[in-house]
Amino acid sequence: MTSLVPGNEQLGRRPLWWQMHYCSGLLLAVFVGSHLLNHLLVVISPALHLAFMAAARKAYRHPLGETVLLVAVLFQIGTGLRLVGFCAREIGDNWRRLQVCAGLYLALFLAIHVSSVLMGRLSAHLDTNLYFAAAGLNHYPQLLFFVPYYSLAILAFFGHVAAIHRLKMHRRLAAITPTGQAWILLIMGAALTLGVLYGMTNHFRGMVIPPKYLLLAR
Ligand code: HEM
Repeated sequence: MTSLVPGNEQLGRRPLWWQMHYCSGLLLAVFVGSHLLNHLLVVISPALHLAFMAAARKAYRHPLGETVLLVAVLFQIGTGLRLVGFCAREIGDNWRRLQVCAGLYLALFLAIHVSSVLMGRLSAHLDTNLYFAAAGLNHYPQLLFFVPYYSLAILAFFGHVAAIHRLKMHRRLAAITPTGQAWILLIMGAALTLGVLYGMTNHFRGMVIPPKYLLLAR
């Protein structure tokens, strides 16, 4: 099928590790999609967020599920950084630049985020739940780091997915072009970012954090 996005037809056949980056990206996108939905549920109530997390953990905390997830994260970071080397030589459009910059931020974020979750769990023996994530978002001056750190992660995830979707999508949906669909994904990312911040700060009024999590926010 002919692409509606100029330049998409010339991408040619790609090496296996490049194709695998796409496949493990799809797997991670399923996890991240449900992970972000989990964080959005705080808007309704922290109890609902915690109940959803308890159910989801049965899959992603299962030794097999977590091993697959952590290997996919490492593989995604490694192949993603290699791809940046390839793409740096191309003169791309703004969508390509968004894809590369968002991918670079995600690689950095994932490395820090996953190590801090694992250290919180294995070394500080904390339940890495809502309060672990929300501690830094509800205390000044830590929130000056944590608000952009988490917001950019959600925006980068949607930016990366939107740019790839625009490139791979070959048809209009309800008369919307692939570029229009990519814009819709970006707007959804911005709305979700606001929603998650709103929920995790108790509707911008400040969330009460159990004292054991405050050690990390100091
Ligand atoms: C506001 C945004 C985010 C917050 C507050 C957040 C918070 C958390 C928390 C609390 C955990 C621990 C979960 C548990 O112990 O069950 C976690 C795990 C994780 N998060 Fe996030 N996260 C956010 C965004 C993201 C994004 C955008 C990604 C990926 C691009 C991501 C990837 C992961 C991964 C891979 C794990 C490890 C799962 C595991 O092995 O236990 N997170 N996150």
